[in-house]
Amino acid sequence: MTRARWTERLAVAQASRARADGLRRRRVVEQVDGVRVRVDGHWLINFCSNDYLGLAASLDAVAALQEASAWHGVGSGASALVSGHHALHAAFEREAAEWLGYERALFFPSGYQANLAAMQGLLEPGDVCVQDKLNHACLIDGARLAGAELKRYPHRDFGGALRQLQSSPDAAALLATDSVFSMDGDVAPLRELALAATGEHALFLVDEAHGVGVMGPDGRGACAAAGLSARDVPVMLVPMGKAFGGQGALVLGAQPLIEHLLQTARPYVFSTSAAPAMAAAMSANLRAIQNEGWRRAKLASLVARFRRGALRCGLPVVSSSTAIQPVLLGSNSRALAVAKALEQRGLWVAPIRPPAVPDGKARLRVTLTAAHSETDVDALIDALAICLDEAEDPA
Ligand SMILES: Cc1ncc(COP(=O)(O)O)c(C=O)c1O
Repeated sequence: MTRARWTERLAVAQASRARADGLRRRRVVEQVDGVRVRVDGHWLINFCSNDYLGLAASLDAVAALQEASAWHGVGSGASALVSGHHALHAAFEREAAEWLGYERALFFPSGYQANLAAMQGLLEPGDVCVQDKLNHACLIDGARLAGAELKRYPHRDFGGALRQLQSSPDAAALLATDSVFSMDGDVAPLRELALAATGEHALFLVDEAHGVGVMGPDGRGACAAAGLSARDVPVMLVPMGKAFGGQGALVLGAQPLIEHLLQTARPYVFSTSAAPAMAAAMSANLRAIQNEGWRRAKLASLVARFRRGALRCGLPVVSSSTAIQPVLLGSNSRALAVAKALEQRGLWVAPIRPPAVPDGKARLRVTLTAAHSETDVDALIDALAICLDEAEDPA
C-alpha cells in the first residue's frame, strides 16, 4: 500500500467540484452603503445578507462599539474562564436572558461554535440526538462532535421526530431544530415538537438564528410566536449574525444547564471570548430590536410585496412567509447562470448549491431586509422574471 499523495488528492477533489459547477469563490465587498454594496468594483443591491433589520449599520451600535473598543481594546485577551469575561459580556448576557425569559445566557464568538458547544457539553456517547433533516450544518456537526447517535427525521415531520425518540426509549435524548430553516425560510412545527420532547423526556433545543428579532411579540422569535416559553424550550440558541446585525451567539437556559456548559463545553472553555466591544454593540441592537418595531413592520410589508410579485410572475418560490425567500432552480448551472444575469442588472443574490442544500435543489436564496425599499423589491422581481426566462438549463 502506498500512502495517499496530498497534491494529487486535492487536485482530484478540486477538479470534481469544477465538473459539478460546485466551485465557490469569495466576492470582495469593498464598500457598504446600506443595502448598496460595491463588490469587485461594481455597485450592487444586496439581496443575500442576513442583516434582516438593517442593524449592522445602526448608529447606536457603531457608537457603542467605538466607545467600548476605546475603553476595552479590540480583543478580550483570553478565554472567558481565564481573564476574557468582561462586564460588557456579562451585561449583554443578563439583558438578553431577561428579555427572552431565561435564567441565564452564555455569549459565544459565533453561532457555529455555540451549537458545537451546546451539543458537545450536553450529549455523551450513547445518547441520541434527533434532528430535522434540514437543520443547519452546525447542529448536525455538534451531534457528531459529541459522539451521540444522530437520528434524523423528514423535514418538519413531527410524527417522524416522535418515532425517532421512541425508537431509543432508554437513551438520554436531545431533540434539536432550527426555528426558521436557513435555506428554505419555512418554520418548524415548534409546538408539536415541544410536546413530543416533553412526552419522551427529551431535552428540546431550538436554534432561533432566523427567528429572534424578526418574529414573535417584540421580536422575541418563532418560539414566542408559537406561545412557547423557557419551560417548553429548555435550550435556545440565538446567533447575532442575523437580525442583531453583528457577530457571536447566545445559548440560553436554566442556571444549572448554562453552568454545566460553562464548565464542560470545550468550544467555550478552550476559545478566546468574543470582543467585549461586540457585546456592547449587541446590547445596543437589542434595545433597537425592543424599541424599533417599525423595522419588523417594514420587513413584513416588503416580504408580502415580494411574494405578491413573485406569484404574479410565476417565479418558482417556495412557501415561506419569512425574510428568506428561496427561488428554486434545480441544477447548479442554472443557479449560477441566473445569479450572473441578475448581477449584470445590478442585483446581488448568491447562488446556493450543495452541500448547503440537497443535490438537485440549487437555488437563489433571496433575503429581504428592512433596509430595502419597495423599488428595490420591484426591481428584483422584474429582473428575476426576465433572467429566469432567458436562462436555459443545459441539463
Ligand atoms: C440556523 C443557523 N444556526 C447557526 C448558524 C451559524 O451562526 P454563525 O454564522 O454565527 O456561526 C447559522 C448561519 O450562519 C444558521 O443559519
